[in-house]
Amino acid sequence: MLQQETMSHHSNGVSAMENGHKKDENNDVMKENNDVIIRDVPQALMPVVAGLISKRKSVPYWYLYDTRGSELFEEVVRTSKTYLNWQKEYSVLQSHSDDIVAKTTSPVILVELGSGASSKTRLVIEAMLKRHGTLTFVPVDVSKEHIEKVGQQLEQDYQGLTVEPFGGLYMEGIRHLSTRKESKVILFLGNSFSNVHIHEQVDMMKEVRAQLTAKDRFLLALDMNLDRESLLEAYGQQWVVFQKDNPIGRLNKDFDGDMDAAKFELVTDFIENPADGDTPSYVAGYWRSLAAQHVNFRKLGLNLDCQKGQKIFYNEGPNWSCKWTLHQIRRLAEKSGFAVEDYWTTEAEDYCVVCFAPVS
Ligand SMILES: C[S@@+](CC[C@H](N)C(=O)[O-])C[C@H]1O[C@@H](n2cnc3c(N)ncnc32)[C@H](O)[C@@H]1O
Repeated sequence: MLQQETMSHHSNGVSAMENGHKKDENNDVMKENNDVIIRDVPQALMPVVAGLISKRKSVPYWYLYDTRGSELFEEVVRTSKTYLNWQKEYSVLQSHSDDIVAKTTSPVILVELGSGASSKTRLVIEAMLKRHGTLTFVPVDVSKEHIEKVGQQLEQDYQGLTVEPFGGLYMEGIRHLSTRKESKVILFLGNSFSNVHIHEQVDMMKEVRAQLTAKDRFLLALDMNLDRESLLEAYGQQWVVFQKDNPIGRLNKDFDGDMDAAKFELVTDFIENPADGDTPSYVAGYWRSLAAQHVNFRKLGLNLDCQKGQKIFYNEGPNWSCKWTLHQIRRLAEKSGFAVEDYWTTEAEDYCVVCFAPVS
């Protein structure tokens, strides 16, 4: 289906894509009898097309991270007075990087999923170099140019460090390393796991588990803030350029579109789930059309008929960002072949770094 020159709005062939990009096999039609032209669309952008033509309109979360998007993200997390995850994670890593590194055996490869600027990872790199003398670091990120630049800077800054950037999706990066003999420590920082479709998180953990041996470790940083008021502030309008304006500009560029960012607003909400259930609470986010309008993507031959209030999600799932209890983290481990070996939190216990060890 994806090889054809056009893709029908009945896009039921768009399945089994990369983790976090899987599409519902029964995507409903947007407009009957109107195919979109995919002849000139790179394979990597097919999930974006699939999201635009499905009934539940969405763009994949990774699409937000072109080079400009990566810069915008870093700008918000480093300067915000209300979104404090960067600072919280930094403080946990500052206090506990040595404890994390004590779990590793040399030779070790440090892998980072969704590495971005790797700004907090520097603390782990420094602790690893102190313990092992040399280190191979493999940042895995869809924002290829960005991590290549970051990698060059890291190599300049640290003697004994070799950086092997992998530009691609999370699971592509994990599979790319499957034949390496060294033990692996995989970092997934920035609460990024919480952006993975809430119904695909266990599957992703299982997939990662399948690639690991007993001496490997998977370290996830997870947000435990459950305070509605502070969350709605943290996930508010300060994200508008990164979450809405920049990706809409990218859509227009990629598909020769006329989508007007000013005619959509960024909406966020906090969905609370029982603290003792398996499903984490989450912040939801989407663009909402301020008026009835037509959006044309000429390259696809696609004319979207948006009603006032039409939602377009910038995530594959309902969640923008999950918020966890310790019980939910333990259940996640149990369901996916891991045990929580250790965890470190902020003083307020509203953010944690968890060390998952594979169980057989
Ligand atoms: C929330 S940011 C976190 C960045 C950094 N790790 C931090 O803690 O500040 C998520 C990062 O993951 C990357 N990313 C998002 N979805 C991805 C995917 N499916 N595969 C690979 N990289 C992805 C983005 O480019 C971005 O750099």
